[in-house]
Amino acid sequence: MLKKLSGLSGLSIVALLTIVQTEAFAQGTIIPVETKSNALVLQTNSTNNLNIVYLGPKLTDKKEYEAITAVYKQTAEYTGVSNAAYATSGSRNLFEPALTVTHADGNNSLDLQYVRHETKKLNDNVSLLTVVLKDPVYDLEVKLFYKTYFKEDVTEQWSEIKNNEKGNVVLQKFASANLYLKADDFWLRQYHGDWAKEMQAEESKLTHGIKTLDSKLGTRTNLFQPPSFMVSLNQPATEDEGAVLYGSLEWSGNFRIDLELDNQDNLRIIAGINNHASAMTLTPGEVFTTPVFLSVLSFNGKGEASRKLQSWARNYKLLGGKGSRLTLLNNWEATYFDFNETKLKALLKDTKELGVDLFLLDDGWFANKYPRNNDDAGLGDWQENKTKLPNGIASLVSEAQANDVKFGIWVEPEMVNPRSELYEKHPDWVVKQPNRKEYYFRNQLVLDLSNPQVQQFVFNTIDNLFTKNPKLAYIKWDCNAVVYNAYSAHLKNQSHFYVQYVQGLYSVLQKLRKKYPTVPMMLCSGGGGRVDYAALQYFTEFWPSDNTDPLERVFMQWEYSYFYPAVSSGNHVTDWGKQPIKYRTDVAMMGKLGFDIVVSKLNEKDLKFCQDAIKTYNAVKPIIWQGNQYRLQNPVGNDVAAVLYLNEERTTGVIFNYLVNNRYDAGSSRPIRLKGLDAQKRYRIKELNLYPGTSSTIDDTKTYTGEFLMKVGYNPDVKASRASVVLELKAE
Ligand code: DGJ
Repeated sequence: MLKKLSGLSGLSIVALLTIVQTEAFAQGTIIPVETKSNALVLQTNSTNNLNIVYLGPKLTDKKEYEAITAVYKQTAEYTGVSNAAYATSGSRNLFEPALTVTHADGNNSLDLQYVRHETKKLNDNVSLLTVVLKDPVYDLEVKLFYKTYFKEDVTEQWSEIKNNEKGNVVLQKFASANLYLKADDFWLRQYHGDWAKEMQAEESKLTHGIKTLDSKLGTRTNLFQPPSFMVSLNQPATEDEGAVLYGSLEWSGNFRIDLELDNQDNLRIIAGINNHASAMTLTPGEVFTTPVFLSVLSFNGKGEASRKLQSWARNYKLLGGKGSRLTLLNNWEATYFDFNETKLKALLKDTKELGVDLFLLDDGWFANKYPRNNDDAGLGDWQENKTKLPNGIASLVSEAQANDVKFGIWVEPEMVNPRSELYEKHPDWVVKQPNRKEYYFRNQLVLDLSNPQVQQFVFNTIDNLFTKNPKLAYIKWDCNAVVYNAYSAHLKNQSHFYVQYVQGLYSVLQKLRKKYPTVPMMLCSGGGGRVDYAALQYFTEFWPSDNTDPLERVFMQWEYSYFYPAVSSGNHVTDWGKQPIKYRTDVAMMGKLGFDIVVSKLNEKDLKFCQDAIKTYNAVKPIIWQGNQYRLQNPVGNDVAAVLYLNEERTTGVIFNYLVNNRYDAGSSRPIRLKGLDAQKRYRIKELNLYPGTSSTIDDTKTYTGEFLMKVGYNPDVKASRASVVLELKAE
C-alpha cells in the first residue's frame, strides 16, 4: 500500500484513502458478544479482517450494532485494521500487534482473516464464542476464545495459534487478548510496589503512545507490579459512578500489558505473556494456547465492577470460593527459625487456647546436612530436621489432634539454597548460567520447573508430606526468589524457559489437585509476589503482603479488594505497627483471619479480646466471605475508612471503620453513608469486638430505615480513643 501511495499525487492519495476507509467500514459478519449489561461487538470488514466495532452498554436491538461504525467521524482510518480483534504485524497494521510470527520460510508478515465462528452455551450463565481466523497466504490458524459470564459481566479471552506450515513457525509476540475502546479520555489505575509495599496505586490520564505494564522477573513476578489494572472511560470512575474496565492476566509468569492511545484517540489494550526473551517455536502441527485475560466492565463505578468480579471469582475461579476457611495461628513471627518440638507443642496448646482452627508451622522445620536455621541453607532438603523435630512432623500432627486443632505446614518447593544436598546432587536442576557467577535472591536459586524430573520432585515433596501425615490439613506454598541468569540445562530452546517454567508449575499443581482436591493452600510469595487468577484455581487464599501493620493493611486490602474477594485474602494479626490488638484484629477480620503473635505473652485482657473476637468472627464470617462488599469511605483523603459487607438478602451486614489519620481531632465528624441496603427496611446497628472493660458509644436501641442510612448515614464515632470500630447491621 505504501509503495503504491508514494507514486500518487496529493489529490489521488486523498481519494485512495477514502476508498480504503469506505472499504474498511463496509458491513460484514457481525458477532455481538453480550453479557447482562454489556456488549463487545466484532465485525468483519471488506478485506475480511475481524475488528472490534463496539465495547459498551448492550443495545436491546442487536441489529442496531450495525449502525455503530457510521456515527463515528474520527480522523482517517488508513488501514481498516486499526481496531483489529487480534492485531498482527508485517502486513497493514500500523500499531502494537497482538501476534507477530516468523513463518517457516523466514517471512515476518501476517494477515488474519475471518473463517467462521460458533457460540456454545456451557450452562445457563456461561457461553463460549470461538472465532477462527486464518492467513490467506501462510497456513497459520488462530482461534480467538471469548468466554462470557452473563450475570457477572465478566469475559475471559485467550487464543490458540496453530502452525499448519511445513516447517517451524516462531511466535515473536503472542498476546492473549486485544481490546479496543472509544471514549473522550482514558484514566489508568495501575499498581506498583516491592516487598512489604504491595498494591501501591497510581492513577493517571493516558496520553498518546504506549504505556506498558510488565514483569520480567520470571518467578515472584508481581514483586514490582501485578498484572491487574483498571481503565476509566471519560473521567476517573468513583465507587458508584462512571465507566470502568478492570483487567487482569491469569498467568503466574512474565506478563506484558500494552495500553496504546492511537492517532484516532482510541485505546488499544493488548495483554498476554511477556514476549521478552521468550520467542516460542511451534513445530508443524503444534498449537500454542495463551493464558486467559480477564475483564469486567461496569458503567456504575468501581464498586459494582469489583462486586461482579468478586462474585465471579467465588463462583468460578478461586478454589473453594464458596467454601469455608480455617482460622489459624502461624509461628513465623513468633519464633522465626528458632524452635524445637517442645516449643511447638506449647504453641499447639496456645492454638487451642486462642480458639483458632489450625496451627501453621512455618519455615525452618527441615534439612539436616545444612540445617534450615537461617534463610541461607537447607531449601530443597525436605526432610524433618532431626535436632529440632526428633519425632518428625507426625508427632506434631498427633499432638495437634490431641489438642483438637488441625496442623498445617510451610513449604517453598520451587527453590533451592546452594547450601543444600539437593544442589549438590542435582546442579542441573537449578536455574543458573553454566558459565557465569551465581546471583542469589534471599540466598537462594530457582529450580528448573521446565524439567519434568523437577516437576516430579516438587510433586513428591508435597505428596510425601501428605502420605506420611494424612491428617495434614493446610499448606502454605511460598516462593521468595526471582529468576536471575535464566537458563535451563534441560531445555534445547532457551527462549522457551520463562513460559515452560510456568507451564511446569501448573502441571505440578494440577497433579496435586487431582490427588488432593480440597486441602486448603495459601499462595504466598514473600508476601504478595504471586497473586493471579491462574494460580488461584489451585489455592484457597493468598498472602497479600508480609506487611501486616494494620494501618498499611487498611490501604492495601482496600486496593486488593477491587480484584479479589475477602475470602481469598489471608490477614494475620501480628506485632507489626503501633496499633492496639483490637485495631490489628479488626483489620485482619476483613478477610480470612489468622494470628502470628506470641499468645503466651498476651496480657489477660488482650487474650480475652482475641478469644471473643474469634467467636464473633466465626459468627459473621459467612457475610465477610460470601457477602457483597461496599467500600464506603476511602482511607485516601479521609480521616476514617469504612467498608461494609452485606449478605445477599440485605438483612445482615458488618461495617469496619478505622481511623487512618493521627492529626488533632481527626475522626468521624460527619456521618458515613451506607450502600446496598433495602430502603424500606429498618436496621439496628450494634457494636461488635468491644475491648474488655469498654462500652460502646453506639446506641443499639435505635433503628433507622435503609433510606436514612443510605441518604444521611450512620456515625461510627471513630476518634483517637475509638480508632477502630466494628458494627453489625441487622434488619428488624
Ligand atoms: C516469606 C513469607 O511471606 C513469610 O510469611 C514467611 O513464610 C517467610 N517467607 C518464611 O521464610
